[in-house]
Parts: sequence; structure tokens; C-alpha cells
Amino acid sequence: MRLFVVWVLSSKAVAGTGMTELSVCDTAKRVVWVAVRRFHLGCLYGEPSWITRKGPSMRYAILYNSASGNTKQVAEALERALRAANAEVACVQIAPGDTCATIDAAGVEGADAVLVGFWCDKGTCTQEVADVLAELGGKRVFLFGTAGFGGAPEYFERILMGVRAKLPEDAEYLGGAMCQGKMGAGVRRRYEAMLAEKPGDARIQGMIDNFDAALPHPDDDDLGRIVQTAKQALGL
Ligand SMILES: Cc1cc2nc3c(=O)[nH]c(=O)nc-3n(C[C@H](O)[C@H](O)[C@H](O)COP(=O)(O)O)c2cc1C
Repeated sequence: MRLFVVWVLSSKAVAGTGMTELSVCDTAKRVVWVAVRRFHLGCLYGEPSWITRKGPSMRYAILYNSASGNTKQVAEALERALRAANAEVACVQIAPGDTCATIDAAGVEGADAVLVGFWCDKGTCTQEVADVLAELGGKRVFLFGTAGFGGAPEYFERILMGVRAKLPEDAEYLGGAMCQGKMGAGVRRRYEAMLAEKPGDARIQGMIDNFDAALPHPDDDDLGRIVQTAKQALGL
């Protein structure tokens, strides 16, 4: 209907010019037709970009620490998802011993929110991550991480609360999410040696079972869940 009205009006406008030269009139009509068609397609399939542009997109900085690649996998999934949501994203691995370089490279200063990723090292994050967190005063922060154990959500929550406590008081904690991450083969060999010394020990057998359960993680479900939690926390 909208197309019809605009088309009729545009036809009348061309007719109203009184152009008698057929070629001039045809060319003008064609130009108007293309413009009208573009306008109408814009109405049908979404407004043209010059109408819908909503100002600059959101900017996020992802900073992560990963020794064997699990947390890197999560960081990259978050990067892909935020880019797909039209955000500007810088994803940077935390440089050992150089907090300022990491923070600069990730553009933390101008970021709308900072996503910090860590691997669980003896119940908490590494010192490199703790150093970065200490610099995030006044920032909106989302935490993500991976850990070798992970049978219960309370376990992840406890780790997240410990890492969150390393943020300055004026940082705004937006939330966090974790998943299990596979461990190196040497860990299983150590457990096996322990079990050989204490055959039938249920605790050690549980650790071996957990090692095996962690092998496929992070999997697609883990990545999807963490991405979903992050997008919700960021309001995307
Ligand atoms: C030295 C060391 C200490 C670890 N400490 C813990 C721990 O306390 N709790 C836990 O659940 N996992 C622990 N893990 C397992 C890792 O957190 C887990 O495998 C993680 O996914 C590794 O992440 P990355 O691949 O990004 O380095 C430890 C691993 C290493 C190598």
C-alpha cells in the first residue's frame, strides 16, 4: 500500500514536470522508481541504515588468562557472540607481569564493560588476573572462568565470590559464570599413583572420575551457557 501511494505520487511528480522528451522523462522516471523501490524495500525488510543508526555501538574489553587453552576457548566464544551482537570487542590475553600493557591493549579505559577470564589455580585466580582486577576501579566487570572440578554450581559460585573480592570497591560486579575445564594427563597419572598406594580409596577414585568427566569440557553447552549469562548481564 505504502509503495502504491509513493509510486502514484512520484509518477504524478514526473508527469507534472511537463517533460516532453521521451528519453528525459524515461530517465527521470527510472531514477524516481529506483529511489521509491529502495525506500519501499527498506520499509519491508527493515529501515535503511541512515534511519536506524543508533549511535556508536557498545565497546567491550575481554581480558583473560589461560595456561592450557580452556579459558581461551571461553574468551573466544564470548568475543564471537559480542561481535555478532554488533559490539566492538578487544580480546586480549593477560601479559605475564605487565598489567598496564594488557589493560592498554584491551582498551579498558573506553570500554563500556570489562570481561575478565581466569583459570582456577588452587581455588582462586592467578596473581596476573588479581593484578588486572585491582586496576578496574569504576568499571563494570563480568567474570568468567574454568576449573578442573565442577560437579556442583556452589563450587563455581564460591570461586567466583573469592575472585570478585579482588575487585576494588568502586567496581560494579555484573555477574559471572564458570565451567569445568580438562586437566593435563600428568594429573591423572598422579591420581593413579596415589590410588596404587591406597587401593580402593573412594576419595582418590572420585578424583580420577572427575578427571575423566572434565575431559570434554568446555563443550558447546558450557560455551552457550556462559555466553548467555554474559549477554544477560551486559543487557544484550
Ligand atoms: C597448578 C594448577 C592448579 C589448579 N588448581 C585447581 C583448583 O584449585 N581447583 C580446580 O577446580 N581446578 C584446578 N586446576 C585445574 C584448572 O583450573 C583447569 O584445568 C582449567 O580449566 C585450566 O584452564 P586453562 O586451560 O585456561 O589454563 C588447576 C590446574 C593447575 C595446572
